[in-house]
Amino acid sequence: MSEQAKIQLPELEHESAIITGSEDEKAFDITKLRPNTGHITLDPGYGNTGACISDITFIDGEKGILRYRGYPIEQLAEQCKFTEICYLLLYGDLPTEEQQQQFSSRIKQEQNIHEDMKRFFDGFPITAHPMAILSAMITSLSAYHESTDISDIEKIDADIIRLLGRVKSFAAFSYRKSHGLPYIYPQQDLSYVENFLHMTFSDTQENYKTDPVLAEALNLLLILHADHEQNCSTSTVRMVGSSHANLYTTISAGIGALWGPLHGGANQRVIEMLEEIRDDGSDYKKYVNMAKDKNSDYKLFGFGHRVYKNYDPRAKVLSQVADRVLKALNVDDPLMEIAKNLEEVALNDEYFIARKLYPNVDFYSGIIYKAMGIPTNMFTVMFALGRLPGWLAHWREMILDPKSRINRPRQVYTGPTFRDVTQIKDR
Ligand code: CMC
Repeated sequence: MSEQAKIQLPELEHESAIITGSEDEKAFDITKLRPNTGHITLDPGYGNTGACISDITFIDGEKGILRYRGYPIEQLAEQCKFTEICYLLLYGDLPTEEQQQQFSSRIKQEQNIHEDMKRFFDGFPITAHPMAILSAMITSLSAYHESTDISDIEKIDADIIRLLGRVKSFAAFSYRKSHGLPYIYPQQDLSYVENFLHMTFSDTQENYKTDPVLAEALNLLLILHADHEQNCSTSTVRMVGSSHANLYTTISAGIGALWGPLHGGANQRVIEMLEEIRDDGSDYKKYVNMAKDKNSDYKLFGFGHRVYKNYDPRAKVLSQVADRVLKALNVDDPLMEIAKNLEEVALNDEYFIARKLYPNVDFYSGIIYKAMGIPTNMFTVMFALGRLPGWLAHWREMILDPKSRINRPRQVYTGPTFRDVTQIKDR
């Protein structure tokens, strides 16, 4: 018999089960609340709402813990390849050598895009944001491939692998397009991360020699971004996918959600903010005061998180990696000092302490991407590349769950009550 809890309403009481997760998180099951009481719960922004049960990622925001399938992010980031993480998120366990080899080679077979689709890139203006291109290209895959047969696990997995192969190529091509450069095809002998660097930075005359510092940094960045349970874009993927919309459109919707500056788009905003502070005499305290001023809607990008009320463990890893990468690449970026000063303020200022606002994953990632030569408007594309396996794993988990239903929240209506329509001449 599971633990029970009661909601006392004015005229009746509702009793239902407490659901306990594997890390002892507690939820009050309200699935029968409306049928039994006529009441719904109201939770704008979903801060207290569990939309699903999931085996993929665990976060303890109070303690600053992040684990994929039980493994701590710090160990995964240090020891694994990004494609191993894709496998882990999708199938639940780290791959054996043989599984990893087969999985990687299947992704490689899917990395070439249809030649027709290359022409799509030509149609975009050179100023197009690469997130706009990425989202359009992913949704365009639905014009080339049938909707996934969700009753067939092999087809589900084949389409997932197709996206893991193609999206990297779309991302690299969108960079080439915005720089007016010819497209570079992937090479079979390169790893996932090396291939992305090759397709992005190679010269047509000479193959790009992958710098191990860059490959290692990119591998780590992608792993740190790979999943974050029910964040805005993943919830969007679950929302759109719950109508059984095709997988490509579903992932494209996730790209749209990620692009917003409160979510993945924050990494671009962080660098723009740091540059603004630099160009304004590096007076970072002025910007901190603006963020604290309740009469202004200015905020410090790269700070705060809905779930973390402690240091974001990904930001902790990234702040150390940023130092390492800048040193190894011989980059002396004044933005790094401004970022460190802002962090120092946040950790000691009463406003930030009271609200538990710490640097988040987007705070240091941009400084690393910048040092790697990736342009600012590509930062959110890099986030998308990292988050793709998380979206796919959540979509797969939902589609394979026989209990999943179309996602359809309720509302409390506060508009006019019944009224009759009058003739236009009488209004
Ligand atoms: N700068 C200044 N004040 C802030 C900030 C900030 N970056 N973030 C939150 N606050 C304040 C906010 O004004 C509120 O103050 P008060 O209680 O006085 O009204 C309090 O802290 C709580 O904030 P909230 O807006 O209720 O928090 P939320 O959970 O709704 O929003 C957030 C979370 C991440 C959208 C928000 O912290 C934010 O806008 N941060 C800046 C954008 C950013 O860095 N986004 C990336 C998030 S991490 C990666 C990802 O998800 O993609």
